[in-house]
Amino acid sequence: MRPPLLLLVLSLTFFFRRTFSKSSEDWGLAKLPPRGWNSYDSFSWVVDEAAFLYNAEVVAQRLLPYGYEYVVVDFLWYRKNVDGAYVDSYGYDSIDEWGRPFPDPERWPSSKGGKGFSKVAQRVHDMGLKFGIHLMRGISTQAVNANTPILDVHTGRAYKEAGRHWRANEIGLKHRTCAWMQHGFMSVDTDLGAGRAFLRSLYQQLAEWGVDFVKLDCVFGDDIDTKEIITVSELLEEIDRPVVFSLSPGTSVTPSMAKGISSYVNMYRITADDWDTWPDVTTHFNISRDFAAAKKIGAKGLRGRSWPDLDMLPLGWLTDPGVRQGPHRKCNLTLDEQRTQMTLWSMAKSPLMFGGDLRHIDQATFRLITNPTLLEINSYSDNNKEFPYVFSTENQRREIHSLQKMENQANSYIREETVLGLVSCNDEKAKGWFVASHDGNSDYMCWNHDVRRSDSLPYCVAKKKPLLSSYEDTTRIWQYQEKFQLVANETTDACFHGSVNKKHTASAERSTLVSDCWWHANQVWRLNDNGTLENSYSSLCATVRSKKGSFITTGIRSWIATGRRGEIYLSFFNLNPVSTVISARISDLRKVLDSSFFRRGSCSGKEVWSGESHSLVKTKLSVTVKKHAAVLFVLNC
Ligand SMILES: *[C@@H]1O[C@H](CO)[C@@H](O)[C@H](O)[C@H]1NC(C)=O
Ligand SMILES: *[C@@H]1O[C@H](CO)[C@@H](O)[C@H](O)[C@H]1NC(C)=O
Ligand SMILES: *[C@@H]1O[C@H](CO)[C@@H](O)[C@H](O)[C@H]1NC(C)=O
Ligand SMILES: *[C@@H]1O[C@H](CO)[C@@H](O)[C@H](O)[C@H]1NC(C)=O
Repeated sequence: MRPPLLLLVLSLTFFFRRTFSKSSEDWGLAKLPPRGWNSYDSFSWVVDEAAFLYNAEVVAQRLLPYGYEYVVVDFLWYRKNVDGAYVDSYGYDSIDEWGRPFPDPERWPSSKGGKGFSKVAQRVHDMGLKFGIHLMRGISTQAVNANTPILDVHTGRAYKEAGRHWRANEIGLKHRTCAWMQHGFMSVDTDLGAGRAFLRSLYQQLAEWGVDFVKLDCVFGDDIDTKEIITVSELLEEIDRPVVFSLSPGTSVTPSMAKGISSYVNMYRITADDWDTWPDVTTHFNISRDFAAAKKIGAKGLRGRSWPDLDMLPLGWLTDPGVRQGPHRKCNLTLDEQRTQMTLWSMAKSPLMFGGDLRHIDQATFRLITNPTLLEINSYSDNNKEFPYVFSTENQRREIHSLQKMENQANSYIREETVLGLVSCNDEKAKGWFVASHDGNSDYMCWNHDVRRSDSLPYCVAKKKPLLSSYEDTTRIWQYQEKFQLVANETTDACFHGSVNKKHTASAERSTLVSDCWWHANQVWRLNDNGTLENSYSSLCATVRSKKGSFITTGIRSWIATGRRGEIYLSFFNLNPVSTVISARISDLRKVLDSSFFRRGSCSGKEVWSGESHSLVKTKLSVTVKKHAAVLFVLNC
């Protein structure tokens, strides 16, 4: 029987209303961890239209069947790719009359004539994919210096409030520049109607272009700007199309920091940039464990859900961080290390954004990122968490311990070493500085964070008054009265500075905060009453940490999750530099999962990478795992 036409029309109308109605929470935006391709790991900032669309074409043909649907242009798409232009250069960006960036017409020819990204978005949509772009925090320094007017999207004219027009200079917060791109961007004052109007004009334009995904950078982690995150989230909710909202980077992020923002976004980074080094891979274990324990995986998000993001997958054909160069080298991780990375990213349900150049993807990389079991786990598994009860034999622990000791002695850089780092001044880790007089005539800045520990000796650096050159005017002398420089090395006249001049990687410490002493605000520090030591340029605070802890991670790790058909996923990770026998007791699995997952007296199943069967395991599952490798069991118990 055919349904009457009217009924069909009605139900179709209902369907469209349900699917596209504006207020709907049941849009289910980012219902599963988003998946796609991002240009940064292979093109840094110099990607162009042809290379981008070529990559998108490969995504559409080969990866879309595996759920990879977003293609994202990463940072500085508005910058001219010419000598002199680099990540923190000033003056090479295309901005329109309202202070908004538009694509560099040389790299993005279809944008000519004010079309922005609309043609590229259309091509991407025609391929059946979704289109994403990257934005920096707030407003560009170029727009502030040009003092551009602000567009009121409601009138199409310059924004007017309290009887006057407002301009970029009034909304840019010059003391809140992006710490790793200080010449490029600064926060916008979202308490001002004009500040919000500027951001609205920016995001309204993205919607007009057909953007489905925004990666907002330099607003989270060390660079956190909660007000801007919430304002942008509210503006995206005003927009009549679902836009996935992603935050980056996630340096020093903790679950408590994410608490205030996770419901406003769809994904947010929980580490600094991940590159293809083994230490970078290992730094993701503890933080993803902490976010799983805090129940942040798949929690409520903007118009749907939100996901802790372990960063793009730097596999295949790559470039180097921040350079003005496209792909030119292969991934440095071994196949075992790559499998470890993919397994952790899947077990932790991280968004999967492939970073390699797809024009040159090799078969091994393709098979890894399309592994059906990993993708099933990434999308649909449940109860994901670290499994703390894995063990290796006592002999093996001893062997690894002595090996580690030998390595530490051989590589002096691994030896415990105190280094200066930077954190947000709100961070409790920034407290602990005091002034001490060491030898009667010099003043020292000392650090003793944990004063209760009698064995923790203070770490001290000499402080000196900044030497003002003769042409410094008196206002500046006054301005810096309470401030000083920190001497890193008296012999070589080296001083500590407090600016992060590039995006650092997940494992890199900010340990090289040293340069020749000279007169610049980035070498000027002030001691706050609460014991934080604040840098005048970046407004970040100094902290002291040991380099060792975050440099090498050894040991064994394990994650557990459950599947849609009642199966148990159990992965073992060997972070040790030698093969290790890793074991887990079935009775311990019962400690962390509901009894409904144990319907038999024993467990049987398969290991994913080797294909090996394990049947009728009653007490203990044991397997030898190679250096830096992972194993993954799919078990029915
Ligand atoms: C990758 O390995 C090569 C050769 O071992 C090395 O020169 C290069 O610095 C490494 N690159 C990264 C990003 O670690
Ligand atoms: C310490 O004081 C400074 C300046 O008043 C403030 O910005 C910062 O948030 C405070 N930090 C902590 C951890 O209390
Ligand atoms: C200071 O620099 C000199 C010359 O590079 C070096 O030999 C010395 O070890 C440094 N001192 C400190 C305390 O780092
Ligand atoms: C990771 O967590 C373990 C267990 O809590 C801890 O012993 C280790 O020091 C942590 N590693 C780092 C690098 O923080």
